[in-house]
Amino acid sequence: MAAKNLKTKRSRPVLLINIGQLLTLRSSSPGPRRGPELKELGIIEDAAVLCHGGKIVSVGKTKDALRDPWIKQNRKGIIEIDCERHVVLPGFVDSHTHPAFINPRLVDFEKRIAGAGYEEIAEAGGGIRSSVDAVRGASKLKLVGKVSGAFSQMAAQGTTTVEAKSGYGLSVESELKSLEAIRQAAKQWPGTVVSTFLGAHVVPSEFRKNPERYVDLICSQMIPQVAKRKLAEFVDVFTDRGAFTAEQTVRIFQAAQSHGLGVRAHVCQLSETPLQPLLQYEPASFDHMDCVTEADVAALAEHQTVATLVPGANYFLGLEKFPPARKLIDSGVPVALATDFNPGSSPTPSMPFVMSLACTHMKMLPAEAIAAATINGACALRLQNRKGSVEAGKDADLALFEARDYREIPYWFASNRCLLTLANGIICSAGKLLH
Ligand code: NIG
Ligand code: FE
Repeated sequence: MAAKNLKTKRSRPVLLINIGQLLTLRSSSPGPRRGPELKELGIIEDAAVLCHGGKIVSVGKTKDALRDPWIKQNRKGIIEIDCERHVVLPGFVDSHTHPAFINPRLVDFEKRIAGAGYEEIAEAGGGIRSSVDAVRGASKLKLVGKVSGAFSQMAAQGTTTVEAKSGYGLSVESELKSLEAIRQAAKQWPGTVVSTFLGAHVVPSEFRKNPERYVDLICSQMIPQVAKRKLAEFVDVFTDRGAFTAEQTVRIFQAAQSHGLGVRAHVCQLSETPLQPLLQYEPASFDHMDCVTEADVAALAEHQTVATLVPGANYFLGLEKFPPARKLIDSGVPVALATDFNPGSSPTPSMPFVMSLACTHMKMLPAEAIAAATINGACALRLQNRKGSVEAGKDADLALFEARDYREIPYWFASNRCLLTLANGIICSAGKLLH
């Protein structure tokens, strides 16, 4: 199949039968899950799901599906998958990734092992800035290959929707090239990609003496071109010590809004970012949240902004502290989980691993981790009408796991038990199932 035809190719209907536990994640009310709602998985046992034309057509019991007149009549044309009593759930929505980079950052990795901190390494010339030269020097095709590779690895672990940020180009030309590469890789992948412009990842070296001029460039050139060429749906800012201030973020958010783009921000990873001035722009998501204050937790409970937690970064940076998931959930803040796939702080494509960290290091229950990785991730991308649950009419995004009980998904850490991933009705990863 020609890669560029993936999205347009009409897929054959797919019928999954004999599902031991189908986690539907269906909700009685719209919007992100909060508090005890995060534990409601809407489980159907002995279940079946029929997908056609890229959508979920029906969801119910296997015995009813096998009696259905349309299914009986069309059985020969349907791809039937016997799930052998394993677990099926909505494909993961990885709502925070940075796949547009060229090289792993192995020098930073060893420096940290020797005792240096993330900020110390960045100040000494490592960190985000040290990934920039390779992206600026790379062809678009080379970047497409890197981004595509990341999408495939994610799909192999059950992910069907990915938010993908630019942010290692930091010039007009290289930021646009990164977003074009993401768009091209997205066309070649059956899953769904949401692009985010992260020109405000860090101030590049050539603007270090005058960061405001770089903010001017972002607002007056980068954002208008990104919007005009429809290269991104969101604008992100790293609003933290050593990156951008809340005032600079407000300027960038205003420019984003005036060009019709949504906003989101990396906040409270390294310091207490003031969130109140940013909330009036209704960010889809605030990500990291390690150092969030009590007052901001209370304020967030009154908003739709999702707190996206990325414990892979805490794990990989060797931190003792993890984001305060329990406090956020118990205070009524909607929480999502994402990989933060990137070369500096979280080089993992695995949502199940992130969910495992959420359980062991943040005291989230397996059910909470699953809702945070599916329906709440969809809310963080404003895609909850299409993604994040298994309901008729939604996109046919499903993951089949080798597990009798959903709690095994975060339990078997660093072990890929994903047998099959179906994205927009297309089988895009079939682990051990079809071999
Ligand atoms: O989310 N904090 C800012 N950005 C990334 C790290 C990027 C990098 O180190 O390359 C993060 O952790
Ligand atoms: Fe990030």
